[in-house]
Amino acid sequence: MAIIKCFIKIVINIHIFHLLTLKTSANLCNQSNLDQNQECNSEKNNKYSKEANTKYLQYFNLIYDAKRNYKVCNMNRCNCHTPVLLQDLKIFKEKGISENLIQNVKTKGTKYQIINHKLYREPNCLFPSRCSGIEHFILELLTDLPDMEFIVNTRDWPQVSRRHGFFGPVFSFSKTDEFYDIMYPAWAFWEGGPAISQYPTGIGRWDNHRQKLGKLGNATKWEDKIPKVFFRGSRTCSERDSLVLLSREDPELVDAQYTKNQAWKSDVDTLYAPPAKEVSFEDHCKYKYLFNYRGVAASFRFKHILLCKSVVFHVGDDWREFFYAALKPWIHYIPVDAKATKEQIRELIEFSINNDDMVKEIAENGYNMIWNNLRMRDISCYWKKLLKKYAGLMTYKPIIDETLIEIRK
Ligand SMILES: *[C@@H]1O[C@H](CO)[C@@H](O)[C@H](O)[C@H]1NC(C)=O
Ligand SMILES: *[C@@H]1O[C@H](CO)[C@@H](O)[C@H](O)[C@H]1NC(C)=O
Repeated sequence: MAIIKCFIKIVINIHIFHLLTLKTSANLCNQSNLDQNQECNSEKNNKYSKEANTKYLQYFNLIYDAKRNYKVCNMNRCNCHTPVLLQDLKIFKEKGISENLIQNVKTKGTKYQIINHKLYREPNCLFPSRCSGIEHFILELLTDLPDMEFIVNTRDWPQVSRRHGFFGPVFSFSKTDEFYDIMYPAWAFWEGGPAISQYPTGIGRWDNHRQKLGKLGNATKWEDKIPKVFFRGSRTCSERDSLVLLSREDPELVDAQYTKNQAWKSDVDTLYAPPAKEVSFEDHCKYKYLFNYRGVAASFRFKHILLCKSVVFHVGDDWREFFYAALKPWIHYIPVDAKATKEQIRELIEFSINNDDMVKEIAENGYNMIWNNLRMRDISCYWKKLLKKYAGLMTYKPIIDETLIEIRK
């Protein structure tokens, strides 16, 4: 159903594009930097570019549309992300958050309380380093936070499905439209992220990664990047197969290989090839084209590879973190359908190679969005706004739960 919908939309858009080109081709060329478009550049008006441009018309159009609809958000006080928490809390607005609702979801995560500017938690946390990555942010904010209690899910998977029979507020780091969970900034901004050989204690300390990758992204010239698609990751999801298979077929165009994950037993788990070594974020930045796939839920790497100032192909749009909504397809990244075939992926890559200036701009936009709007202070700001708004929806005053322990810095 989803695919059919997309297809119809593209067809209609091409139609509109034709109508627009008739009237305002000069303007269009200017606005969308369509310097490869035959209408814009007669020198390139040879047989090849004509063919290519007919093929790429749908992408030119999608970029043009995205630019026309794009509204730059206000960077102050994490405003670029605020609509997301308002949206997540909207369902609780009418009736508020009652003690009953908390009871409904008590077992879906770890219970926390903030009472008199002190933080309390259940003694046991399912993933201690995840809890600690979450508490790092809350502890800093305590003086500004009113009394409240809430349930934090530290699993990857969200908990409150529209299809289940229960309902209540659960904080989760990632979700799809199917879930009522309230998104919070993942623990991995501080600690508790997945461990790979380069980051044995887990990908964490976003402040450090941001500085290092942000500098590297600026220091590496676009022209000096290897003009190849690069991907390394484990086979958490078969969505990744098309790119890996394309890489085996055309290693000059794509270098995409599976690494081991904890469940790896034999080459079957890496799609009948020996597992590749894991690769640091810094080494990803050497390549012009990077792919981001969902993992079990959203993938932590998205924000890191956007700071390479390479162009990011983001596959699928179901799984989100709180900051994804500020990132727009064709403005900050190139969207790829989760069910895209090898051939469709190849066409997108070829489009990018043949429209270098256009995708370079997307790479820069992606960098700027993350660099400017995903600072540590933006993460804290989001937590603060989220918890204050949440507390404002509570219909009762929580009293201290003696089974909890106090958490201090
Ligand atoms: C580009 O924009 C300028 C100013 O709006 C206009 O004069 C010019 O004709 C446009 N088209 C091209 C192809 O330069
Ligand atoms: C990278 O360049 C941009 C644009 O000039 C700038 O705003 C940003 O601060 C730079 N990043 C770093 C890490 O210096």
